[in-house]
Amino acid sequence: MEIRKAGLDDFKTINDLALKTWYDTYTSILSPEQLEYMLKEMYSLEAFTEQIAVKGHHFLLLSENDKYLGFASYELNYTSGTTKLHKLYVLPETQGRGAGRLLITTIEGLAKKNGNNKVSLNVNRYNDAVKFYLKNGFEKAGEEDVNIGNGYLMEDFIMEKGL
Ligand SMILES: CC(C)(COP(=O)(O)OP(=O)(O)OC[C@H]1O[C@@H](n2cnc3c(N)ncnc32)[C@H](O)[C@@H]1OP(=O)(O)O)[C@@H](O)C(=O)NCCC(=O)NCCS
Repeated sequence: MEIRKAGLDDFKTINDLALKTWYDTYTSILSPEQLEYMLKEMYSLEAFTEQIAVKGHHFLLLSENDKYLGFASYELNYTSGTTKLHKLYVLPETQGRGAGRLLITTIEGLAKKNGNNKVSLNVNRYNDAVKFYLKNGFEKAGEEDVNIGNGYLMEDFIMEKGL
């Protein structure tokens, strides 16, 4: 498996991967209306461009044999010394083969290289991915209900890992 940095030109690839992963992940957790709302808010071309060009999010794409299988995004110095993992998605048929771990350890390495000593993330409290993060050295640091507009909440755990 290979990982490369992604940029604005990769919008379609990342959007495709998100569409192929989100329904599988969130259909049992969110209402169809909230799922569509969040996809639109977070994965429109406008949102993607803002994340990269304004907010300083970095995107990584993971591939194998020239096929893209997953992506992640992160932000260095989200708060002092802390890198925030914003997104981590691996295609359903690829899950369980080490792609998620490779993406997250790559981000941990980049965080360290840039002088950060912690990675923090939000994950839905009902998402199985919580177990993945626990297995990879993250701890629950709290929980929060984030108001994302339109009457919708993201019911998250905050998880952290010291580097
Ligand atoms: C969560 C996710 C990124 C993990 O990636 P992955 O490639 O499937 O995970 P890996 O194969 O790298 O697994 C690494 C370790 O975590 C464990 N693990 C992964 N998913 C797990 C789960 N759902 N429950 C328990 N353990 C899990 C694996 O067993 C493995 O442990 P091992 O080395 O002891 O065998 C992936 O499953 C995914 O994209 N899920 C849907 C999207 C999502 O929820 N993203 C997170 C949003 S915050």
